[in-house]
Amino acid sequence: MKGANSKVVLALIGAGGRGTQVILSLQQCAKNVEVKYVCDVDSQRGGNAIKELSKRQGYEPARAADMRRIFDDKDVDAVVITTPEHWHALATIWACEAKKDVYVEKNVCLSLEEGRKIVEAAERNKVVVQCGTQNRSADYALSARGYIASGKLGAIVTVKAYCMLPGTREWILKPDSDVPEGLDWNAWLGPAEAVPYNVSRHKAWSDWWAYSGGGAMSGDASHVIDLARLALGDPGLPQAVFCAGGRVIFNDKRDIPDNQTVVFDMGKYPIALESSQYGSYMYKTPQEVRYGEKFPEWRSNATRIEIYGAKGLMFLGRHGGGWQVFGNGGELVEQAAGYFPDDAHHRNFIDCIRSRKTPNASIEQGVLSANMVNLANLSYRSGKKLLRIDAATGDIVGNSEAAKLDKRAYRSGFTL
Ligand SMILES: NC(=O)c1ccc[n+]([C@@H]2O[C@H](COP(=O)([O-])OP(=O)(O)OC[C@H]3O[C@@H](n4cnc5c(N)ncnc54)[C@H](O)[C@@H]3O)[C@@H](O)[C@H]2O)c1
Repeated sequence: MKGANSKVVLALIGAGGRGTQVILSLQQCAKNVEVKYVCDVDSQRGGNAIKELSKRQGYEPARAADMRRIFDDKDVDAVVITTPEHWHALATIWACEAKKDVYVEKNVCLSLEEGRKIVEAAERNKVVVQCGTQNRSADYALSARGYIASGKLGAIVTVKAYCMLPGTREWILKPDSDVPEGLDWNAWLGPAEAVPYNVSRHKAWSDWWAYSGGGAMSGDASHVIDLARLALGDPGLPQAVFCAGGRVIFNDKRDIPDNQTVVFDMGKYPIALESSQYGSYMYKTPQEVRYGEKFPEWRSNATRIEIYGAKGLMFLGRHGGGWQVFGNGGELVEQAAGYFPDDAHHRNFIDCIRSRKTPNASIEQGVLSANMVNLANLSYRSGKKLLRIDAATGDIVGNSEAAKLDKRAYRSGFTL
């Protein structure tokens, strides 16, 4: 255990938009936090983070192109993994083996197998791992959970989770081209299949199963499903999963669908998830609700959760938004406003590096939530077929195609 204000040295791996945001927030959310490295396989990225950190800490973080250089440096306490998703599991395992604490963005894994291996690596090496599912640090999420656990909502009958994001554009696959200056394409691909450089892969990685859990599903549905699980007391894997959907608005050549309707059989109750990208009448939670005392206009809120209990209906918001419970005749029974908790989540990670406590978004829960997304995609990709999960082993049964798809191929040098 370190002292409450002892020095914490961080390194960033993946200096894109989210990585820059997270590292700057981590550095200033607590005293005595420094950033020694900014690592990216693209020398064009990371400039903003380096400039700002240099001003704040009085020395420039070193640039690194290969994350393994950071794992070898004994000064580094923890790494922040904000690469595209196909690198998350491998980078987390390498970091754990090097005894570094880890902040890893969602989705933390792209298969059941990856999930198992990262949990094992974290446990074996006794490192602190915080997942980037920041809703777990929101007071209102915990009070929603407390309200449900108290029995005030009654027995849970059914749950509906939404990630119906506004807007979509037709996707045009660009031709292969030369690798842009400064980018190590082979390292960017890492564990994924070696393919020629293509800007549609590089810049739109979440449209490809090879690099992501898919568009809205990995972007926001992963957060919504994680928050629903938290409020429900963190149930384990579902007993069965079925996913329908397809490309609705533009039937272009994208790997991923733009609409997925998923039913998870959680045993005691079902969770239905709508994940889609169309419909300008839906809105993400506005800023004044995220950081204020207001509540969303629930019907058009793109990322709401509806928890139907025998005694009432709870609306729960992601991105702040709080929760409200309505009873008979639409009567408002109880409510709590919410504050979007990015800062609190980052502070919790630094606190846990020092105290060695389990962080709010533990790797066990991060993997379970990621696997809800992974299982839904496996049902869809195996031809919209039901899959059942063996509660004892966590394995897929009754769908050999899905079980086969879960075994991702890794290139030599990048195996888990
Ligand atoms: N929790 C949240 O609210 C939230 C919000 C946005 C994004 N995210 C997550 O953050 C992650 C990054 O998203 P983004 O939008 O910043 O993506 P991005 O593509 O803009 O940035 C990723 C960066 O990682 C770099 N990279 C790729 N492979 C690397 C490697 N092997 N070593 C070092 N760097 C490597 C890329 O060159 C790029 O600069 C994703 O997993 C995304 O799902 C989370």
